[in-house]
Amino acid sequence: MKSVSAPAGHRAAPGAAPGARPLLAAGLLLLPLLSACGEDHVSRYPQTTFAPTTEMGEIQIGLFNLTLWLGVIVGLLTFAGLGYIMWKFRYRPGAPEPKHVHGNTTLEVAWTLIPALIVAVIAVFTVQAIFATQPPPPANALNVRVIGKQWWWEFQYPVNGGRDTVVTANEIHVPVGQPVHLLLETDNVLHSFWVPQMGGKRDLITNRVNSLIFTPREPGVYLGQCAEFCGDSHALMKMRMIAHTPQGFQDWLNNEASPALEPTDSASAVALGKKLVTTGVCAGCHVIGGTPMVGRTGPNLTHFGRRRTLAAGIVENNAANLHAWIRNAPAMKPGSLMPQLGGDIPNALTDEQITYIVAYLQSLQ
Ligand code: CUA
Repeated sequence: MKSVSAPAGHRAAPGAAPGARPLLAAGLLLLPLLSACGEDHVSRYPQTTFAPTTEMGEIQIGLFNLTLWLGVIVGLLTFAGLGYIMWKFRYRPGAPEPKHVHGNTTLEVAWTLIPALIVAVIAVFTVQAIFATQPPPPANALNVRVIGKQWWWEFQYPVNGGRDTVVTANEIHVPVGQPVHLLLETDNVLHSFWVPQMGGKRDLITNRVNSLIFTPREPGVYLGQCAEFCGDSHALMKMRMIAHTPQGFQDWLNNEASPALEPTDSASAVALGKKLVTTGVCAGCHVIGGTPMVGRTGPNLTHFGRRRTLAAGIVENNAANLHAWIRNAPAMKPGSLMPQLGGDIPNALTDEQITYIVAYLQSLQ
């Protein structure tokens, strides 16, 4: 009887043990996961969802871990079964053909029921998490109105029993230990509020007020970002959440509720800047408490000098960056409603005038 040689495709590649390459590839894929285990996620990835600091975040990461590990178990069992079958029924010259099987009721019932059960378990925990993370606002909650702008964030705090409102931008201040109830809306397109370490994201939708409730636990500065594509500078629509002790928060709020500081010396750069800001082009779009400015297009600047960043968190709030921003905002943030005010345009502010404006804005503590 003539012996049958194996078809070319069934021969092992020269120089490599069969099965070694897929194993190597899988190992390489797992390496970054393993090496990341010992890292400080928060300093390396400040917008991490894997280091929640609120109950809401913990519920969400719990749900993620449940589905992840169920998936890992199913994946390992599937690949182990596949590996076993590939090995057991591998091609061998001269071996008889394996028995052909057409349907196995026990197997089919098993692989229908087991996944259905797994999905049912995930569904139970998911529904639980949905109810746990969407409670009605507690009576002692701090209400903050959040308004999505093009492309920055406005935050409004009712004070004096709701008769007055503190308005600030891009840096949302909250106290630890008190539930925070955000009332989210937009005055233009869709945005999404997302401070990953505080928990879930929530969309800001036109003609609707959405709600997000969480309780900050640890004082600190938490990075956030608009998480819904909203136009040219979506990626530049950042924010910071600053969690204070209750006293620190009250001090901040009291300061914000006070009118803007007056220049102490009427001949200083600060005073010259104030005149330019309150009577010039800035007044059309900005408010500074205690001055006649009433514009509502841009951020409230009453205590601008206290903010850590400018232009919705994209650069540090210092004299050089502020100068560059006023001179040509759209160059730093494409599509910004803040126009170019200096440089090579008609009626431009001179660099000297911008220096005075910077001095005044920085004095607004
Ligand atoms: Cu706002 Cu993306």
